[in-house]
Amino acid sequence: MKPKVLITKRLYPEAIQHLRQFTEIEYNNAEEGFTAEELLKRLADKQGVVSQLTDKFTAEVMDKLPNLKVISNVAVGFDNIDIPGATKRRTLVTNTPEVLTETTADFTFALLMATARRVVEGDAFLRSGQYQEWQIDLLCGYDIHHRTLGLIGLGRIGKAVARRARGFEMIVLYHDAVRLPREVERGLGLEFAPLDTLLAESDFISLHVPLLPETHHLIGAPQLAKMKRTAILINTSRGPVVNEEALARALASGRIAGAGLDVYEHEPTVHTGLLDLKNAVLQPHIASASIDTRTRMCVMAADNMVAALNGRRPPNLVNVELWPQA
Ligand code: GLV
Repeated sequence: MKPKVLITKRLYPEAIQHLRQFTEIEYNNAEEGFTAEELLKRLADKQGVVSQLTDKFTAEVMDKLPNLKVISNVAVGFDNIDIPGATKRRTLVTNTPEVLTETTADFTFALLMATARRVVEGDAFLRSGQYQEWQIDLLCGYDIHHRTLGLIGLGRIGKAVARRARGFEMIVLYHDAVRLPREVERGLGLEFAPLDTLLAESDFISLHVPLLPETHHLIGAPQLAKMKRTAILINTSRGPVVNEEALARALASGRIAGAGLDVYEHEPTVHTGLLDLKNAVLQPHIASASIDTRTRMCVMAADNMVAALNGRRPPNLVNVELWPQA
């Protein structure tokens, strides 16, 4: 008998085909996921779930799912899952790293450029019929080339953003819990900086940390107060890394110049203070959303699930202590 798997939301068809071959699937081919109650009901007889970041797996939820062996999350981030809780219950958790690194870095740069050069405002200006004549000071923004970019978090995506910044001849500072070896810093053209120095010296600050208790509200009023008035903050990591209320106030008062956001503290809700601001470019959590990358993420999640349910170590296991590498 094939193991039973719930797919909580629409996936690209390549993944469905693969899962169908090896498992008995219940597929919610819809944009909207299940309520917490419905999710529990549908998972009662399943060994696996292919989840998305809108599905929450708290200890309380997992307590009610003793048959659940594998949670395959279609995302690199896994803050929607209580990992110590899953580990305690011996539930394998997998994610989809690497395949989205370059695509997310592309989008980070798109957001940075759109915010600095007022691309969204320009589009709205033209469509509303206001473009009457070339003007010397029309929609002037900030230069990107040769400016200083501060990266907070230098994992795979942070490094990919740093590589792009070199093409713009930017000075790139970074801050991370772990400092890279000096020769790697040199190779990447990076300079390590204490957080306060990075905040004070950067023209653009881009966040690339995972959401952890230590990174919650890493950027709040005290950090915004240390930034240049001309600074632009970019967030393609996780919303709660930034105190949205403090950011909205800083943008409205001109404490900093702008923000490009792809993620929010309480998705899909966006702080109302941000919605009317022209100096905020707001996107609906789409940094990894290219067709190729999203397809690869789905296939990777399917591979992880099939491996785990067939007694093989899933290639992208998060709680590695459950299955140490041979
Ligand atoms: C998206 O935000 C992801 O974590 O993959």
